[in-house]
Amino acid sequence: MASERTVARDVSVEFRFRCIACGNLSDSASQNFRCAECGDLLEITYPHWKESRPDAAQLKSTWRDRRLSSNAIDLSGVWRFRDLLPALENDQQAITLREGNAPLYELPRCAHITAVPRLFAKHQGMNPTGSFKDAGMTVAATFARRAGFRWVACASTGNTSASMAAYAARGGMRGLVLVPEGKISWSKLSQALDYGAVTCQLRTDFDGCLRLLQELVLRAPVYQLNSINPFRLEGQKTLAFELLEQLDWQPPDHIIVPGGNLGNSSAIGKALVEMRDLGLISRLPKLSVIQAEGANALVRTLREAAGQRLINVAAETRATAIRIGNPASWKKAVHVLEATDGACEQVTEVEIAQAKAEIGAEGIGCEPASAVTLAGLKKLLKQGFVKPNETVVLVLTGNLLKDPDFTIEFHRGELFKGTKDESASAELRALQRPPVVLDATLDAVIRTLEQAERS
Ligand code: F0G
Repeated sequence: MASERTVARDVSVEFRFRCIACGNLSDSASQNFRCAECGDLLEITYPHWKESRPDAAQLKSTWRDRRLSSNAIDLSGVWRFRDLLPALENDQQAITLREGNAPLYELPRCAHITAVPRLFAKHQGMNPTGSFKDAGMTVAATFARRAGFRWVACASTGNTSASMAAYAARGGMRGLVLVPEGKISWSKLSQALDYGAVTCQLRTDFDGCLRLLQELVLRAPVYQLNSINPFRLEGQKTLAFELLEQLDWQPPDHIIVPGGNLGNSSAIGKALVEMRDLGLISRLPKLSVIQAEGANALVRTLREAAGQRLINVAAETRATAIRIGNPASWKKAVHVLEATDGACEQVTEVEIAQAKAEIGAEGIGCEPASAVTLAGLKKLLKQGFVKPNETVVLVLTGNLLKDPDFTIEFHRGELFKGTKDESASAELRALQRPPVVLDATLDAVIRTLEQAERS
């Protein structure tokens, strides 16, 4: 195991850590990635941008040219934007699975349902391990290896652990995963196992796992790869760079993301502000965060404490990826909502299930946590916050295959059986496509076809 306890910065690398609360600047961070002065979270900053601001037109053309390259680092949809990331000493340092490169899809059916004609999905579920986590993990895992760590670790609701396990394996490091027992999907758990991580199912929730990890990193030389780690957020910024490139640098009016531990919204917001400051875009889209009603810490923090102190909640939702009650990056998220004039909303379990089926019916699909974006858009439209003539991008964070139990229970009409939502969910029947078991005869199949045609 590495003996170093700090994440050292090489002199050639032009970035610093800045505390989000007291502004203290430092060249290195301790393993819990907290400010040595006040204990708040750190972010990465690039002081040299002030003196020699990267040229916006040059950046756009460099990024476009790299799309024609066959170098591993250019094939990564994250490292292609490396000019605005912490620098590497050489291209071979990057641990990459060709992450990023996530498609931007039109959503014609959902556009019809919501009456928002210009509606898009940025599908981060098309990443190598099936979620947006890969964009952050490639950067953070690379810097973990560079700092000499042998062990990397995370607490997770599933996707972070799948991603971390993969990048640890690719980078020749060992991975330690802490997940809440019985509260993550088998698909995600199976990824961590197959990629060779040491996987601990702890008898607690995600918040309990994260608390324990914070203590662990102060006692053992393991490098934490949760989104408290600011390198993760630097990688996740590239979602926004790529999105704007896909939109030919015309900012959409709204970007809508799910909120759990609130790292992703923070990263996207940071990227938008950086792009505006560097002249890559002329105005900021509004970034809105949607939470599940049962895991609505940010919604309550804004409504009941004006964003001044965190109101944590005992989280409960079938969208297990965002079953988080004590989000670590809440302050960063409050800052980006303020900076972009975004909104924060919550949606019910039934609304999530409906939205997920509607995205599925587009032939795209996503995991439940991602579907909060469409459900949230419907609310924001009703409130008049989003106007039908505006351009809206939903960030779909995870692949449909991440949580097959949810999908199968939904289509079989079992998702809400015996819950308080049972009667409210009756109206979702038209969206359900349960499998039918038949005798293996031509007649039986033709009858089914005819029935389906009539319905
Ligand atoms: N969507 C999915 C599919 C996620 O896995 C997560 C978080 C989020 C949304 C929320 O993003 O935490 O940055 O606000 N999953 C983490 C995990 C916590 O451990 O996989 P966030």
